[in-house]
Amino acid sequence: SKVSAWVSVGDGALDRRIFWQEDIYALELERIFARCWIFVAHDSQLPEVGDFLTSTIGEDAVIVSRGEDGNIHTFLNSCSHRGNRVCFAEVGSARRFTCNFHGWSYGLDGSLKSVSRPQSYDGNANFDKARLGLHRARVENYKGMNFACFDPDAPSLEEYLGEFRWYLDVILDNDEGGIEFIDGNIKSRLKCNWKFPAENFVGDSYHAPWTHSSALIAMFGKQPTMRPDRSYHANVNGHGWEFGLDFIGNAATLNSPQIIEYLREQEVKFAERLGKIRSRMVGALSSANVFPNLSFLAGHNTFRTWNPKGPSETELHTWVFLNANAPQELKDEYRRGVMLTFSPAGVFEMDDGENFENCTSVNAGVVTRRQKLHVGMGLNSKIDHNELKGNVYQSQINEANQRAFYQRWADLMGAENWADVPIR
Ligand code: FES
Ligand code: FE
Repeated sequence: SKVSAWVSVGDGALDRRIFWQEDIYALELERIFARCWIFVAHDSQLPEVGDFLTSTIGEDAVIVSRGEDGNIHTFLNSCSHRGNRVCFAEVGSARRFTCNFHGWSYGLDGSLKSVSRPQSYDGNANFDKARLGLHRARVENYKGMNFACFDPDAPSLEEYLGEFRWYLDVILDNDEGGIEFIDGNIKSRLKCNWKFPAENFVGDSYHAPWTHSSALIAMFGKQPTMRPDRSYHANVNGHGWEFGLDFIGNAATLNSPQIIEYLREQEVKFAERLGKIRSRMVGALSSANVFPNLSFLAGHNTFRTWNPKGPSETELHTWVFLNANAPQELKDEYRRGVMLTFSPAGVFEMDDGENFENCTSVNAGVVTRRQKLHVGMGLNSKIDHNELKGNVYQSQINEANQRAFYQRWADLMGAENWADVPIR
């Protein structure tokens, strides 16, 4: 099929057109973003009834709000009357969402509550308020993280995440009140295809000592150690985490003695709660991505989503998180540390952004676009591991997770419906 010509992970080959072509991008919006579970908000961002934020799922504008029932709702930010944008604020608190154009007014769950001049609809049989609410997505929550999905046939969030939940628990499952997203969210634009950063977070440790060489040497005076015998790629259903087992790695780049002290203090608790091997992942040199576009760095404590704005533009949303019960000084330390490293002005993010943008824009050349890309590192590195879940590969310098990401992408792009999407 066309899709298997684009992505042939068995030989570690990728077609460059998947990063550039309009028709492939249009199919991604249909078959990936309108079908998968997409992260929309953490509970801590919307603590009170009426709290809301606006975001996108693919290119569909959505409102995410805490309803009167206490639940998180997600629905299209586009009026059922003539389609006007209903809410213009990025974040806030409201009782209703009222459209500027003719005054239709919606509740916190997206249902149509009232219209202006209702008498004009008297005796009008096809004016059924119950059917004229804003189109709703399903919303499910995993340990505080709310995901939304526009496909009624998609598996539950729990099934969608599969055994990757075992890994997510490293950051989400604590007895410190869960995690909290520290107030504020940075939005920035990159002129790159959304898949370059997503695949970078899912598995690309390989670039770190090279791309970030000067930043790392300036920080530590030397490169961080990545030991193949003590590091892995692990993936489930295209979600992946590459990690070492050295406990303090990512956390060290924040350059904060308080953060290291906090993690050291918590180390015994981590081991009791998670078991030895996962406790080593808490602050280690690692990166991860939940398919398709939610990336995070444990220890460094940043979540980010890559929101597509066309095949060659991405809007990045970045948050800093921490255990809810951690002291305020520590939250400030994390915020400061992330700003210096993985914000638009951060040293690592500037290094990465330039690469992603050039990997995208150079495909303007028609001959360039016909060439394949190589994602073949570690083709024979799969191992059986008695503790780690999912598909496990030896060494974090690997491209196993990138292949799993593109395999999942190809599975979804090629499938008419969810029944044809294999569990991986
Ligand atoms: Fe919203 Fe008419 S477009 S009320
Ligand atoms: Fe990087």
